[in-house]
Amino acid sequence: MSMQAINMTINGEKIQALVEPRTHLGDFLRDNQRLTGTHLGCEHGVCGACTVLIEGVPSRACIAYAVACDGQQVRTIEGFEEDEVMAQLRTAFSRFHALQCGFCTPGMLISARDVVLRCPTADAHEVRVQMSGNLCRCTGYQGIINAIVSVIESRRAANADRVEPVATAARAPLPSFQAVANQASAAASVAPATASPTAAAATPSDTANKKPGTRIEDAFEVDHPIDVVWEAFADMPKVAACLPGAEITEHTPTSIKGKISTKFGPMRAAFVGSAALERNAATHAGSIRGAGTDSLSNSRARGDITYALSDAGNGRTRVAVAIEYSLQGPLAQFSRGGLVKEFVKKMVADFAANLNARLGAGSSASGAPGEAVAAPAGAAPMSPMDAAGVFWRWMVSTIKSWF
Ligand code: FES
Ligand code: FES
Repeated sequence: MSMQAINMTINGEKIQALVEPRTHLGDFLRDNQRLTGTHLGCEHGVCGACTVLIEGVPSRACIAYAVACDGQQVRTIEGFEEDEVMAQLRTAFSRFHALQCGFCTPGMLISARDVVLRCPTADAHEVRVQMSGNLCRCTGYQGIINAIVSVIESRRAANADRVEPVATAARAPLPSFQAVANQASAAASVAPATASPTAAAATPSDTANKKPGTRIEDAFEVDHPIDVVWEAFADMPKVAACLPGAEITEHTPTSIKGKISTKFGPMRAAFVGSAALERNAATHAGSIRGAGTDSLSNSRARGDITYALSDAGNGRTRVAVAIEYSLQGPLAQFSRGGLVKEFVKKMVADFAANLNARLGAGSSASGAPGEAVAAPAGAAPMSPMDAAGVFWRWMVSTIKSWF
């Protein structure tokens, strides 16, 4: 294998080295640079033990090629000797017993520092969500969360103005995932639309129940009048039948139970859960707020979907959708990347196309209002969406971005 020359600034020091193109940054740091504070656990981008800063962004060293970091700034756990926040975190980790074997600790500390700087008002719940991409196999998470919260609170109490500004764009921890953030969604059969649904869809509980998470907004048009579409949205079996992989097992006008299965390249997930429904006929807006668990990966998801209908003219209806979600568990590694955003956008596009088709066919299959029913035969679930195309597009764009 031919070697490639690279230049890098590691912990403020410029270095030059020859590496094989297949060498990942974690091995390069440990074996070539002898910076063994960067730990390697899963080497699949899941556990977060190898987290370092690349150009100031928390990144998995195990899934970044060293040659892809040519010309970039890398900061490892050894590079925080003089860092005020890191010093506070180290003290807090000791005080709150936030480590035992210490294997996860370098990655934990680098992610925690990012959270402290980026989320200066975060509470324990938000810290837990933000840290969900770092796994600890022996300590448990309570001490870790307590330590980080204590640093956030003490900094806030001391002087909020001293918090270092960190660009919003630097939030995604995996640079290789950022490449897909700007890719357009596939929406072949629906008209493109970009306006935010937030204002129109807002219901009184929208702001009261805000949870931290990733937000995605999208919109599409349906070839049917607003009253027909509004009525269809009340028919949850019909709605679920338009969503690939979704299946409703029980529903009332205010709640649903069911599951949704997805295939994503080599990954599969099947979330089982329940959701509360709200509708406002006066504004043609509504919400679906739910949570579920994927038994395959032992991941948990929480999501709020708000939608607002408006007359698009010529007997068409515009549907604006806002999805806010958070993931915890092994799948959380994907929750802050463009990968999931493109996946959700494809799901919305598929839903729009299926809704158009079903409304055109005039099918209806709801239970009596107010009554919990089993999923009716007329709303047979569609096969899970196979987002292999999305996955492979992401892979190709990621590899291209490296070179
Ligand atoms: Fe890199 Fe686990 S070793 S994420
Ligand atoms: Fe042992 Fe986290 S302290 S894995």
